Formats: sequence, structure tokens, C-alpha cells
Amino acid sequence: MAEPTIRDATRFDHRAIRSLGPRLTEGAAPWRPAAGVSSAVSRLLEQSLGGHGEFRPIWVADLDGRVVGMATAVVREHFSGPADCYLAELVVDARYEGNGVGTALVAHAERWARERGLAALTLDIGAANLGGRDFYAQLGFLEEQVQLTKPLPPA
Ligand SMILES: CC(C)(COP(=O)(O)OP(=O)(O)OC[C@H]1O[C@@H](n2cnc3c(N)ncnc32)[C@H](O)[C@@H]1OP(=O)(O)O)[C@@H](O)C(=O)NCCC(=O)NCCS
Repeated sequence: MAEPTIRDATRFDHRAIRSLGPRLTEGAAPWRPAAGVSSAVSRLLEQSLGGHGEFRPIWVADLDGRVVGMATAVVREHFSGPADCYLAELVVDARYEGNGVGTALVAHAERWARERGLAALTLDIGAANLGGRDFYAQLGFLEEQVQLTKPLPPA
């Protein structure tokens, strides 16, 4: 596969970006209601599209005019002081997986963050998203914080 170009999204990409959204539900914990996860993912994606700007970039991976992946980021102050580049949504079209598109999007985010003197790239990922976790581990991401949940089924 040819190398995709990573570029800033325009409003003409919104439709393609929305079509990638459903994959962002992958790795949600099995005890969470699927419909709730799905609507939260759509809502967050709409927030990203609505808030797109200098410090809230949206990038797309463009392969000969076709959007095959996307990532959004936001500059976030960490409680320890320096600001991070938080990757809010990163997804690759399943038909183009395993071709380096995700890696190219993260590399672009890293360059963008370095140019702005940000301290780190950070993100949250579902513990059940084993493929995604392997992907990030391969790219040098380290586990920093672990959220624990005890589901409480109705008595
Ligand atoms: C995770 C995701 C972004 C990876 O995108 P991709 O374009 O397929 O990734 P790359 O081709 O750049 O993969 C780079 C490396 O990551 C690892 N990797 C990627 N996907 C993997 C998977 N599903 N399982 C295990 N390792 C994986 C591999 O080591 C791979 O290297 P290799 O191709 O030499 O084996 C993509 O699978 C995706 O969109 N998943 C659904 C959404 C998601 O989980 N997003 C991340 C959480 S927000």
C-alpha cells in the first residue's frame, strides 16, 4: 500500500470521519451498555469536530483522496505542571489496517507535540482493547495510570 498523507481535516472530511467513529467503541468493558458507549463516542466525536482549532487539531490519513484514518488531539495541562498532547480519538478504516496508517498518525501527532514543546503524548484506552494496547506499546507508550472498576449488578 502507498504511504498515506497525514493532513489537517477540513469540513469536507467530516462525513468520512463520522464513518470511522463506530470503531472507537472497540475495547469498551463488557459490563458497559453498548448503546450508551456508542452514543458517548458519537457525542465526543461531534465535540471534537465542533471544537476543531489550533490547539484541538484533527488529522486525517489521506490515501489518494480517500480518508483511511483519523486522529484528534487536545493540549491538556497535566497535574504535575507541563502540558501534554492528549490523543482523544485515533482510528483506522478496518480495510486499511496493518499498513502503518496508525503509526503515521501517531508520528504526526508526535511531531506536532514536539514542535509545541509539549511534554508527552497521552491517551486513554479500554483495557479490553488488546490490539490497540499492543499497537501503542509498539510505539513506545508506557502505562501510567490504571483505573479499577467493580461492576455492581442489580441485587
Ligand atoms: C489500533 C489501530 C489504530 C492500529 O492502526 P493500524 O494502522 O492498523 O496500525 P499499524 O499498521 O501502524 O500497526 C503498527 C504496529 O502496531 C501493532 N498492532 C497494530 N494493530 C494491532 C492489533 N490489532 N493487534 C496487535 N498488534 C497490533 C503491530 O505490532 C503493528 O506492527 P506490524 O504491522 O509490524 O505488525 C487500529 O487497529 C484501529 O483503528 N483500531 C480500532 C480503534 C482503536 O482501537 N483505536 C485506539 C484506541 S482509541
